[in-house]
Amino acid sequence: MNKDRKLIIAGNWKMNKTVAESLDLVKGLKRELSNIKEVDIVVCPPFTALCEVSKEIIETDIRLGAQNMSEKGVGAFTGEIAAEMLKEFLVRYVILGHSERRQYQAEPDELISRRAKAAHAASIKPIVCVGESLEQRESGVTEQIVGQQLRGSLAGLTADQVVETIVAYEPVWAIGTGKTATSGQAQDVHAFIRQTLGEMHDSGVAKRVRIQYGGSVKPGNARELMSQSDVDGALVGGASLEVRSFSEIIKNSI
Ligand code: PGA
Repeated sequence: MNKDRKLIIAGNWKMNKTVAESLDLVKGLKRELSNIKEVDIVVCPPFTALCEVSKEIIETDIRLGAQNMSEKGVGAFTGEIAAEMLKEFLVRYVILGHSERRQYQAEPDELISRRAKAAHAASIKPIVCVGESLEQRESGVTEQIVGQQLRGSLAGLTADQVVETIVAYEPVWAIGTGKTATSGQAQDVHAFIRQTLGEMHDSGVAKRVRIQYGGSVKPGNARELMSQSDVDGALVGGASLEVRSFSEIIKNSI
């Protein structure tokens, strides 16, 4: 595939896997994916497994991501995790503003942008999620919603920080539903995201930002999705929980 941007495929394990199960999974991924250099591979285990998974992948090309982080530095914030604490486990990426957090924790764009800034300050690359609901798509406001989320969630980031940010387009109606956006639907929104990034900064910045698609990505649809000109990777939920399906997604994407 002839894109200047390196593909980045991340597994979002969500609230799944004990430490022992996490180690089994990551050991399997190490076996399957050790020769792959064409794709940036990221696993995002739950916080409780970061330490052990980190040790397991230390000498591999698999990188570690967290599923959320606080916008605050260390201190009296019960139940929160600071960037500095993630750094201890060599966490390189953090998913921010996932639709499940936007929905269940009512996270607004403004909070996500503060977290994105805190992540960059700690040299952790944020994976910032945006995406419309089914109702929004059906009423024709997809671009309005995605544009608003993008501008709000990346507000105040410098151009250099935006280049180091990964945007994940995840239509809410496609997450965990088995319903994938068609490659055409994905490409259209990805192109819109890149155009919006160009308006927020300039086209040089927009061209360098990697935009992942997420929502029922599977071995069978990965190649077609990744072949779209503005799709630069995937954020994978369900299919990242097994060695075979996650490895096949990566291999089929090259
Ligand atoms: P899914 O989840 O692959 O299970 O649809 C994607 C995500 O929520 O990141």
